[in-house]
Amino acid sequence: MNWEELEESIKACQKCSLYETCTQKVIGEGPKNSKVVFVGEAPGREEDLTGKPFVGRAGKLLNSILDKIGLPRSEVYITNIVKCRPPNNRDPTDNEKALCSPWLDIQLSLMKPKVIVALGRHSGGYLLEKYGVKKKPSQVRGELLPFSTLFGKQYLMVAYHPAAALYNPSLREEIEEQLKKVKEVIKN
Ligand code: URA
Repeated sequence: MNWEELEESIKACQKCSLYETCTQKVIGEGPKNSKVVFVGEAPGREEDLTGKPFVGRAGKLLNSILDKIGLPRSEVYITNIVKCRPPNNRDPTDNEKALCSPWLDIQLSLMKPKVIVALGRHSGGYLLEKYGVKKKPSQVRGELLPFSTLFGKQYLMVAYHPAAALYNPSLREEIEEQLKKVKEVIKN
């Protein structure tokens, strides 16, 4: 499947009921040859209205962290594990994540990024399991986990979701430190 086919398939997806209530699918944004891919949870209200990931309050915080550490948002690809907004911004269910995550798998296999950053426990839990790491997101948060792949070394990091820092500003610095490590590894 190429990108065009993938995007058309996501737009047409009716695998779970979230398509009935969302305004549009939020597929992802950024250069498709980016060395780093950020994976959040699911679109919120602003994302649902604009069709772009991380454009609400959490997104603005993420942008300012990325600016501060010198990793501009325009250079990274951002997506979510679930492509449709859950009603009232509720957490996506296990079933919704399981049905939607194959789209993320195809995105990642087309992009082959050097680093995948899971923002928060929803994408963190899914990606740790996919990579065979038998740990909880909170046990490996902030660690760059290396993997050998057919196209070279790849890293997975589970970072705090930027929304967590909206309610707990001391986490902002911690996210900055986590993402600085990501920046270092893509420079080499
Ligand atoms: N939170 C997410 O996890 N994803 C978005 O796209 C926006 C907010």
